[in-house]
Amino acid sequence: MSEYDLNIAVIGTGGWGKNHVRVLNDLGVLSAVCDSDENRIKSISSKYKIHSYSNLKDLFEKERNLDACLVCTPTKTHYAIASEIIKRKINVFVEKPLSFSSVECEELTKLSKQHDVILTSGYIERFNPAIQDLKHIIEENTCGELLMMEFHRENRMPLHIKDVGIIYDTSVHDIDTALFIFNSKPTVVFARSGRKFHSSEDFATIMLGFENQKVAIIASNWITPKKVRRFSAVCSEGIITGDFITQEIKIDDENKTLIPRRQFQEPLTLELKSFLQSLTGKITKFLVTPEEATAVTKIAEAALISSNTGAPVYLTY
Ligand SMILES: NC(=O)c1ccc[n+]([C@@H]2O[C@H](COP(=O)([O-])OP(=O)(O)OC[C@H]3O[C@@H](n4cnc5c(N)ncnc54)[C@H](O)[C@@H]3O)[C@@H](O)[C@H]2O)c1
Repeated sequence: MSEYDLNIAVIGTGGWGKNHVRVLNDLGVLSAVCDSDENRIKSISSKYKIHSYSNLKDLFEKERNLDACLVCTPTKTHYAIASEIIKRKINVFVEKPLSFSSVECEELTKLSKQHDVILTSGYIERFNPAIQDLKHIIEENTCGELLMMEFHRENRMPLHIKDVGIIYDTSVHDIDTALFIFNSKPTVVFARSGRKFHSSEDFATIMLGFENQKVAIIASNWITPKKVRRFSAVCSEGIITGDFITQEIKIDDENKTLIPRRQFQEPLTLELKSFLQSLTGKITKFLVTPEEATAVTKIAEAALISSNTGAPVYLTY
């Protein structure tokens, strides 16, 4: 018996969607899956003994009691699929980025308000225990004032992503985390990016300028032949460094080094539990709002413009 009395469908069960399927099944709320690839859903539905559909029309005709849908299809399909779900008054979790276009993000946000449904997006790193610890340290002011953040997200991957480049696919994770930790939005964006192995940009460095000269530097590439996912936060009284993969953080001040110990927890499970709690009416501190997801896309757009023009882009929201 699940602690949540909810029925959820996952749309898109590819490389990432299949993880949502596993976790939602473990949480006892998975009702159905939908994927345009018939072979994919056949193997998923036989593994999890759930209903499967190859198109949205059949999904909505047969599954009348859905509380929410998760959209885990390629980025350029998010808008069309999410709008259809919202218009049916069903809550929706759209994988990141909410859309590659901030105009589409704004339309989805408006639509979600009109139809009074929850709309959120999969900025999972907020739920990483390492980032939750960092957020706590910054809020408690135990290392002083946060001045600078730096992120490195590198790996030789993923050739199957054809619809967007590394900024919309990968850098967006760190853009969201920077906004989350600084608890504000940058007023200026400057970026350089280039293309080596992919059809779109596959390396990028983005500088986000916040008020009072505070800054986040986001370096992402699909070139480095090993997985790197690190961050650092320079504060007035010390520095916090961390690893998204091991979830370890290290706090250095003038006199000592602290490495807090805690259990490893899967960020996806934490993220989905938070979504399920919001569906049952609970206030969830970390849930990404549609406005926050829209801001991330706006900043990614600005980074591409800056990279193409060589000039900084000044933003208002
Ligand atoms: N939060 C994260 O850490 C994370 C990690 C990886 C990917 N993602 C996001 O998840 C999304 C999917 O990425 P992926 O790597 O799983 O891609 P993928 O190509 O492996 O899988 C996409 C799946 O969607 C299906 N699909 C495509 N159009 C469809 C439609 N109209 N209706 C139903 N099914 C459809 C495809 O058949 C495929 O099975 C992207 O938005 C990506 O940015 C997020």
